[in-house]
Amino acid sequence: MAKNIILFSIIALSFCCFAYAFEPSPLQDFCVADATSSARVNGVACKNPMSVSANDFSFSGLHLPGNTSNAVGSRVTPVTVVQLPGLNTLGISMVRIDYAPTGINPPHTHPRATEILTVVDGSLEVGFVTSNPDNKHITKVLQKGDVFVFPVGLVHFQRNVGKGNALAIAALSSQNPGVITIANAVFGSKPDIASDILAKAFQVDKSIVDQLQTKF
Ligand SMILES: *[C@@H]1O[C@H](CO)[C@@H](O)[C@H](O)[C@H]1NC(C)=O
Repeated sequence: MAKNIILFSIIALSFCCFAYAFEPSPLQDFCVADATSSARVNGVACKNPMSVSANDFSFSGLHLPGNTSNAVGSRVTPVTVVQLPGLNTLGISMVRIDYAPTGINPPHTHPRATEILTVVDGSLEVGFVTSNPDNKHITKVLQKGDVFVFPVGLVHFQRNVGKGNALAIAALSSQNPGVITIANAVFGSKPDIASDILAKAFQVDKSIVDQLQTKF
């Protein structure tokens, strides 16, 4: 009946506006994270606004190169709500990424953020892969000053393809973007995912999975 369709439409419309894909808007000027609070909320509880200071909205040290002496040859220095309490409820954060020559930032995803990255120094091959069933690899080589965006949730990576070190700065659309590094999550979970599951998923011999699991 037409009346039912109208009623259904009104109900559907009223639900539309509660389905947020991104972080909710703040309900006050700011909500500086109170790391000492034991309150369980979505985000972190607010400090008393009367007791906040400029330092709550500030972070120092992003001029310092990260230590890239590790297996992948890169280092991410995060500035999220953990390092900068004033980011709480604001839906934004940033990172510095240093790359040694041939270094990579291995395939990973941010479950809660889109990332926009600019190359400050050097040259980076970057890419992301679209979801099933296409799994299209969108990739490009960036030079100093170039900007690239990694859409929320998609697996992405960077590789230093220049002669020297490379440096990037990126902004992310969450106070707490989260990182899932594919190799670590799949082969380094605690406890392990059963190796016969991974052998079937990756279509390889179980001994290859065992070897990968010892590395992560
Ligand atoms: C960088 O990390 C490596 C490996 O953990 C360590 O041996 C080295 O001392 C670090 N270098 C600096 C300058 O901290």
